[in-house]
Amino acid sequence: MENSTRQHVVSEEDKKFILDYLERLYSVNTETMPKFYVDFASMYDKANAILKYEPFKGLAKDLAVFFEHKNLENKKILDVGCGNGNLGKSLVEEGFKNIDGLDISDKFLEMAKETKCYGKLFKALLTGNPTPGIEDNSYDVAMSTGCYIACHLSMDTIFELARIVKPGGYIHYTVSDPNDKMDFMYWQGKLMKEKKAELIYMKKEPYRLDPRNNFERVYCYYVMFKVL
Ligand SMILES: C[S@@+](CC[C@H](N)C(=O)[O-])C[C@H]1O[C@@H](n2cnc3c(N)ncnc32)[C@H](O)[C@@H]1O
Repeated sequence: MENSTRQHVVSEEDKKFILDYLERLYSVNTETMPKFYVDFASMYDKANAILKYEPFKGLAKDLAVFFEHKNLENKKILDVGCGNGNLGKSLVEEGFKNIDGLDISDKFLEMAKETKCYGKLFKALLTGNPTPGIEDNSYDVAMSTGCYIACHLSMDTIFELARIVKPGGYIHYTVSDPNDKMDFMYWQGKLMKEKKAELIYMKKEPYRLDPRNNFERVYCYYVMFKVL
């Protein structure tokens, strides 16, 4: 694991850019989010490179390992908050082939389409209620990277993921909540208490760097549930 105290060399211009990006990212709400991702769509990968954000690679790899690299092409996966397609690309690199995407941002959905990694792409706002156009028990796996953060997917949406995944299938996501705003342990506990899913694992992994804190590493959890 990388030493969290290591200094990362970033130009003053990139530092100003990334601080502005993060300030806007963490103040979006449901109404302002699509505009944020239109304004920053072309700069999203640049921001991620500065932040060393790549949990989509780790989560895709973990899923392939979990399935012991067997029958990956047959697993029907929904990438929730697919953005410009980072997770789809990583899943394809691991050998998965049957991937749909869902996002609220038109601009990102266009970019995801260009990757050619996705089958269906749904434009929808995921909430705790049933998503129009997605039937119960439709997927083997519902996944998400970078979306369980403050001001993006609310934690009650894990109940919606449990609805759209087949019994015996999996919910697999990253959650990053360094300022304890999301109550994710409560929602995950509720999912288990209501016998919707059982926890397979929850493990601490690197998430990105924090330009507001001397580019120290921020951690997230990789979480996997089996749907009951
Ligand atoms: C930080 S980006 C992550 C994109 C991609 N998964 C990745 O790891 O690079 C968050 C994405 O979630 C989408 N998003 C956030 N909340 C959403 C919601 N409630 N329903 C659908 N999409 C949402 C945003 O439009 C954006 O594309």
